[in-house]
Amino acid sequence: MTLPLLQVELLNKHYGGLHVTRDVSLQLHAGDRVALIGPNGAGKTTLVHQISGVVPPGSGRILLAGKDITARSQAERVKQGLARTFQITTLAPTLPVQHQVAMALFEREQLASRCWRSLDDYPTLAAEACSLLATLGLQEQAAWPTEQLAYGEQRLVEIALALALRPRVLLLDEPMAGVPQSEGPKLLAALDSLPDTLAVLIIEHDMDLVFRYARRIVVLAEGAVLAEDSPDQIRAHPLVRAAYLGHE
Ligand SMILES: Nc1ncnc2c1ncn2[C@@H]1O[C@H](COP(=O)(O)OP(=O)(O)OP(=O)(O)O)[C@@H](O)[C@H]1O
Ligand SMILES: [Mg+2]
Repeated sequence: MTLPLLQVELLNKHYGGLHVTRDVSLQLHAGDRVALIGPNGAGKTTLVHQISGVVPPGSGRILLAGKDITARSQAERVKQGLARTFQITTLAPTLPVQHQVAMALFEREQLASRCWRSLDDYPTLAAEACSLLATLGLQEQAAWPTEQLAYGEQRLVEIALALALRPRVLLLDEPMAGVPQSEGPKLLAALDSLPDTLAVLIIEHDMDLVFRYARRIVVLAEGAVLAEDSPDQIRAHPLVRAAYLGHE
């Protein structure tokens, strides 16, 4: 068995008297497509916050490619290959999409201070930005101001910004949130085209997307892993149905 890209070991987190993460362990390997599901308040976002370094865990360990990153900063985790989607507010509304992605590439290449120079001066990065956008089905919109894109496409730009950092592990917190159902297929197609080497953990309430995309599903309830299995097994799992799917 190859070394997991991401290992979460017995993570615990309390907020005052509230035990929001309870002995959570999980592993992601290259190529994994794992969905993290569970009712509102189950602790999904809090878990991703701990993995990405936004909040420290109370106890437990997080390893990236075998290296303990539990005490590392968010920026250090990004450098080591862990990326998560940005909040929508980080997108500059009037900036052309391709420039938006190029800025993330400049940052990765530590050329940030030069990012307002013409992209023509950096043909390799301009081409990389275009190819990233093409991967996500946004080639036609490359020159558009971001605000003119459909909302689902803007969420794809956020994914492009995360991919620009060349992650090995990508964490997506509800990419379908606020996206009209009609834009679901485009988002799914984009997620399907992500590189095979990447490990993806996706939090999502849209069960249609979850069951089409994920090859493994982790169910969180009251901070603890209630079940972890293939989509078919999860669909049939009586406790999961009771805790979550029954309410859908
Ligand atoms: N900073 C905080 N301080 C206190 N309690 C918090 C904090 N962040 C989250 N919580 C609580 O922790 C629990 C888990 O919240 P979290 O946002 O992780 O749930 P979630 O599974 O992502 O829910 P949703 O599906 O609604 O996004 C909730 O009860 C929430 O109120
Ligand atoms: Mg959440």
